[in-house]
Amino acid sequence: METIDVVVVNKTVEAERVAAFELARADRAALPPFTAGAHIDVHLPGQLVRQYSLCGSTQDLSRYTIAVLREPGSRGGSEAIHAAVREGDVLRIGAPRNHFPLQPAPYYVLLAGGIGITPMICMADELARQGARFELHYCSRSPQLAAFRGRLAAAPYAGHVHCHYDDGAPQQRLDLARVFGDAGMDSHVYVCGPGGFINHVEGGAALAGLAAQQVHREYFSAAPLDTTGDKAFEITLARSGRRLPVPAGRSVLEVLLAHGVDIPVSCEQGVCGTCVTRVLEGIPHHRDMYFTDQEHASNQQFTPCCSRSKTPSLVLDL
Ligand code: FES
Repeated sequence: METIDVVVVNKTVEAERVAAFELARADRAALPPFTAGAHIDVHLPGQLVRQYSLCGSTQDLSRYTIAVLREPGSRGGSEAIHAAVREGDVLRIGAPRNHFPLQPAPYYVLLAGGIGITPMICMADELARQGARFELHYCSRSPQLAAFRGRLAAAPYAGHVHCHYDDGAPQQRLDLARVFGDAGMDSHVYVCGPGGFINHVEGGAALAGLAAQQVHREYFSAAPLDTTGDKAFEITLARSGRRLPVPAGRSVLEVLLAHGVDIPVSCEQGVCGTCVTRVLEGIPHHRDMYFTDQEHASNQQFTPCCSRSKTPSLVLDL
């Protein structure tokens, strides 16, 4: 996959445990264009590759901005970027990809939980630029942990931004029934944050009568998988006819790589969609957070990094 070398031209503390990084090409040439909701792969020290949403302006291609929450319990990426990456360092990134694009809607409700603000602030900027109607709700444990407060307060759309703090007064808490009721039945909801927050928003939207297709979500990381019931199955690579056993303790991805079948991979936990592979026969056991329920039900694609099979064999378009 195409990668780009960028220099960290600015590193700032945006909130407690949140650092923002501005990345530019060494020769200051323009970076590839992107749309709101896009993310980039960032190649970190120690062979780590992590995805970060672009949170700068889609109109400024002189630099990309990402913001990273330092999570001591994470798989290493956030610690590595906070501790090891400094201004002047060169990083390798992937070209922007967007699995979370804005779709035309008469009204948008943007909901950010914690560091989930990163794609949302880009969306809010973009919607404001387009003159679209929207409101942004930003939920955080406390003001100290909320990144981009200054930027949001100074934005021309500041009147459409509502901050909700867990440690704040009860009357400022997020009231989804009221938010969705006021927004109207034809609004579209965009939500990004931890899994529990997304589930809460999806439940609230369903209760308010919004259809599943009106709710668009982006997870940051998957909950730990329970693999105790995993069973062995077989995959067939349609193009070569090769048949490969997948034992209970190994992922399809591990089996593919062990047999020299290289597929693009990034998060390895069913969040980013990089490894998506077409399924020609068989029924996958989906365990990703990437596809919608409808896409899962169609069984046409799956994520070999974490998903398995419900049938004894899967035929893959590889
Ligand atoms: Fe991210 Fe499989 S590598 S979904």
